[in-house]
Amino acid sequence: MPKKTIISMAVIKRLPKYYRYLGELLRNDVERISSKELADRIGFTASQIRQDLNNFGDFGQQGYGYNVRFLYEEIGKILGLTRTYNTVIVGAGNIGQAIANYTNFEKLGFHLKGIFDRNPKLIGISIRDIVIQDVDNLENFLKNNHIDIGIICVPKEQAQKIADIFVRCGVKGIWNFAPTDLSVPEDVIVENVHLSESLLTLSYRLNEAELFKGKTGR
Ligand code: NAI
Repeated sequence: MPKKTIISMAVIKRLPKYYRYLGELLRNDVERISSKELADRIGFTASQIRQDLNNFGDFGQQGYGYNVRFLYEEIGKILGLTRTYNTVIVGAGNIGQAIANYTNFEKLGFHLKGIFDRNPKLIGISIRDIVIQDVDNLENFLKNNHIDIGIICVPKEQAQKIADIFVRCGVKGIWNFAPTDLSVPEDVIVENVHLSESLLTLSYRLNEAELFKGKTGR
């Protein structure tokens, strides 16, 4: 069960989308935007956007709308992007390497400090100048380096063991790609990533019309 948050998870999950769209507006030199225009672009309703943002403060002005740069920066603050985060990846297979090679996370402030695996064929190879280390060094590395986020990219049978090492060494955020629910203490946040759920949602939507053929909408 995900831990309770003060703001609803549905709102939190929409914030990155606002941030991304506002970033695009900024890059296109748009200075201000009404909640209606923003809503049309993003695909939510204007009142949804106003309600979501009102959870954090009063960012718009009646008759003016939102100042794009201000709102972008404020949402960045809300998302915790005014600071940087040190990360490590455990499991340097397909997913681990793909994440390690994705440099945009660095631009957002997530700095990859170490990559670990148990496969001798991978240990010693570099990805973006970071040498893959033996997972046996993980605990020692975590004790000597402040790491905020541990990224789990090992098979599901191995995931809890890695999570336990993270917890033991004071890592407070876990980005978990393994398809299993991790057991961690209250003060550790786990964010699970499920690409297959997204893919199954897509396949449902491709087939929805067929499913309800001849039936009225609900
Ligand atoms: P992979 O087999 O290419 O890579 C896994 C790596 O973990 C290997 O290099 C292996 O040597 C290493 N490993 C295994 N046990 C370890 C341990 N105890 N300590 C350190 N390294 C260890 O697998 P792939 O395709 O990269 O998938 C990784 C994980 O991500 C799996 O759990 C898979 O089910 C999951 N996955 C998740 C997706 C998602 O949407 N979240 C999508 C695809 C895969």
